[in-house]
Amino acid sequence: MDKKIRIIISGIGNRALPKNVNNSYWLGWVELIKRSKKFQLIAAHDVSEESIKRIVERGYLKPEYTYQNIDMMLSEVSCDAMLICNPAKFHGKTIRKALDYDLHVLVEKPFVNNIAEGREIIELNKKKGKVIACVQNWRTKDVGRLLFEFIKKGELGRIGHIFFRYIRDRENPNYPSYIFDEDYPLLYAMSIHHLDLFRYIIGDEFKYISGHSFRPHWSFYKSDTGLNLILKTKRGVTIVYSGTISSRSKIIPQESLIIEGEKGTLFNESQWLEPPLLFFPYGKNKEINLTKALKKTSIADQYNKSDNYILRNFYNSIILNKIPICTASDGLNSIVLLEASRKSFEAGKTVQINHHDFTIS
Ligand SMILES: NC(=O)c1ccc[n+]([C@@H]2O[C@H](COP(=O)([O-])OP(=O)(O)OC[C@H]3O[C@@H](n4cnc5c(N)ncnc54)[C@H](O)[C@@H]3O)[C@@H](O)[C@H]2O)c1
Repeated sequence: MDKKIRIIISGIGNRALPKNVNNSYWLGWVELIKRSKKFQLIAAHDVSEESIKRIVERGYLKPEYTYQNIDMMLSEVSCDAMLICNPAKFHGKTIRKALDYDLHVLVEKPFVNNIAEGREIIELNKKKGKVIACVQNWRTKDVGRLLFEFIKKGELGRIGHIFFRYIRDRENPNYPSYIFDEDYPLLYAMSIHHLDLFRYIIGDEFKYISGHSFRPHWSFYKSDTGLNLILKTKRGVTIVYSGTISSRSKIIPQESLIIEGEKGTLFNESQWLEPPLLFFPYGKNKEINLTKALKKTSIADQYNKSDNYILRNFYNSIILNKIPICTASDGLNSIVLLEASRKSFEAGKTVQINHHDFTIS
């Protein structure tokens, strides 16, 4: 039998253990770990009593294996890895604590809150040599995997440009209050998925970003909820990205992706990158459904499938020394795009990007 990785969690919120199971798009990390033959959940930490109560009441852990103090958990339990799904501003600090105890790390997106934090961690891990993998699950949904393979095989030819439009009504006063205080919430909550996906599928790095941000008068958020970006890669791919989380529509599909290559156009219109993925070959009158072979799927199927992929990938990185699908430096390079966008909004200028040393200017 495979060796089980003993794992602990920091942050038992909605992503780890959905508050409303019947309404959730995912089973959550705690349930997937329970079902997995490769991991064993040893203990969990959360600063909130309510979150701890939920994991105990649902029978996943006995109270003595839950902690409100992370240092106590780390000093008392014996384990191999930590899954971090607390709010983004705590990721960096929590990763450092895990590395102090020589643990491998799987961290929810965004990897860290800023470039400086990410660099420090990468530097620290040069000595530690632990696996640090980031949950960038747009890469691991079926459409993400298919886009990657299709483009890699050359079936689209050389890419010219990508158009992406995102609209969502996330003006929900029932969300935790910290959500409304976050800077550029669209950028850190959703654009991280999209920009990271672009980096992954086109296999090219960005040279510059230029952008503007905005917020409509009805918004509950403190910071801007909408943005327009133009990005250019080293090999000359242009990306036009436009989005808002202050949409008044819950009906129009949230995501609309068009990728134009020499050999045709890829098209996906979805909520959270579900199939179908269509290919319109250049000069032909009929599209090809690239996801036709997949059995009927739903938003939840896609989340659970991609989360399971990430768990297996994390396991193989630890046990078989494979490179995670999103490493720490890969995760940081997506953070570089967020910070460059932000700098462009605030300085009103085009920002140059150097992915090689994680710098922007
Ligand atoms: N990959 C995805 O598709 C996806 C989707 C949603 C959220 N996320 C990410 O998952 C993470 C958690 O999001 P969520 O939706 O579960 O948020 P949430 O607000 O539902 O839960 C966060 C939990 O962390 C706890 N917490 C707060 N401060 C903490 C600290 N210092 N240490 C430990 N725990 C702390 C809170 O009490 C809460 O239980 C975020 O990084 C978010 O970006 C990823």
